[in-house]
Amino acid sequence: MNVHESEKICRLLEDMGMQKTDKNDDADVVIFNTCCIREGAENRAFSNIMKLKSLKIRNKDLIVVVCGCMPQQKNPKYDPIKDIKVADIVLGTYNTHLLGEMLKRFVIDRKKIVDTNEYIENIELDAIRDDKYNAYVNIIYGCNNFCTYCVVPYVRGRERSRKMGDILNEVKILVAQGYKYITLLGQNVNSYGKDLNDESTFAILLANLCEIEGDFKIKFMTSHPKDLSDDVINVLSNKKMVRALHLPVQSGSDKILKLMNRKYDLNHYLSIISKVRKAVPDIAISTDIIVGFPGETEEDFESTFDLIKKIKYNQVFAYIYSKRSGTPACNMADQVPYKIKNERVNKILNEHRAIVEILSTQYLNKTFNCLIIKPNVALTDAGKDILLKEKTKQIGVFKNIEVKSLVGKTLFGEIKE
Ligand code: 5AD
Ligand code: SF4
Repeated sequence: MNVHESEKICRLLEDMGMQKTDKNDDADVVIFNTCCIREGAENRAFSNIMKLKSLKIRNKDLIVVVCGCMPQQKNPKYDPIKDIKVADIVLGTYNTHLLGEMLKRFVIDRKKIVDTNEYIENIELDAIRDDKYNAYVNIIYGCNNFCTYCVVPYVRGRERSRKMGDILNEVKILVAQGYKYITLLGQNVNSYGKDLNDESTFAILLANLCEIEGDFKIKFMTSHPKDLSDDVINVLSNKKMVRALHLPVQSGSDKILKLMNRKYDLNHYLSIISKVRKAVPDIAISTDIIVGFPGETEEDFESTFDLIKKIKYNQVFAYIYSKRSGTPACNMADQVPYKIKNERVNKILNEHRAIVEILSTQYLNKTFNCLIIKPNVALTDAGKDILLKEKTKQIGVFKNIEVKSLVGKTLFGEIKE
């Protein structure tokens, strides 16, 4: 999501006549688009921002902007005024559209600007898309779920869906421009439409998007298991949908899921997985896990570990629970010591690596509809490279690829006509 926001910021600045550079030394303006989902991300952002101090001494005209969710927190760990002294402009998540105006103001009076006001209306910004084949499209902003560990609802506000017609128009233009993957974005895409006073639902949106003509596929993230409806599952088998689904489970223990306020239990999660696999047997499923949530006993952790073994995810993103100020879990009893959290996350990641190796062997002799991204590389819907035995000129085209051999972790395949 942050990547797409950065793409929007780039468009805004290019429209003001600026040019993008990756070198700090060449820049007149340096923008930090921050994330505060975990303490690690926040610390990293802060230390990168502080590294600009010396550059600022050398280049007095340099303008440093800090935006994104880090400064939007009620009690940020790094105070925009006291701690982030090097920043000239600090913006929250609601007011990126004001950046141009603020830069102009700062150039004139050189007075630090901090604006983290919550603007109600969403101003949809155009983006310069970095990827040649994938285009991100926001469909819903904010989150109403209040998982007890998560800071997002506090820094991104309540759910606001974009109008279906606007999304369809945007996607039609992107497909005409040649994008091959359209990735729909939202903290919980399944909630799409609930706040609109019309018939819009996520399933209807997907069905309408599938009707758009052209050689492209649709992805989405992120999906909350409590809201993944049968109607959405039915659309997943459409040829325009990627054979991949990210469905964060967070924990395999009902006790922890309850403490997390996830509003589903393990049985419900498992029933969704089996429905999805029944509808789309070759679908690649990935997930997010949090280990060491307050109160997580060895037994709770074992339930999560067993789930990983049972589902055999194609990808597991496992995170150590990180206390986020202002969230309910922050003050819960029985915080788990760091050493244990670290052991648990490593155990999950090791098991997952072993599963991925076994899964790789199952690719053999199977056929995947892939996008050819280089003369000798095809990409599966789940983001896995297959090296082509013979080079092709059909770059940017979807082709069926049969996996013929496996050397180490590398897959080799052939185009199937
Ligand atoms: N600590 C650790 N992981 C977190 N996530 C969200 N909040 C936290 C937190 N406080 C993880 C969840 C979510 C992913 C985007 O980040 O697994 O799905
Ligand atoms: Fe955070 Fe996602 Fe839960 Fe919303 S649904 S509170 S974004 S983890």
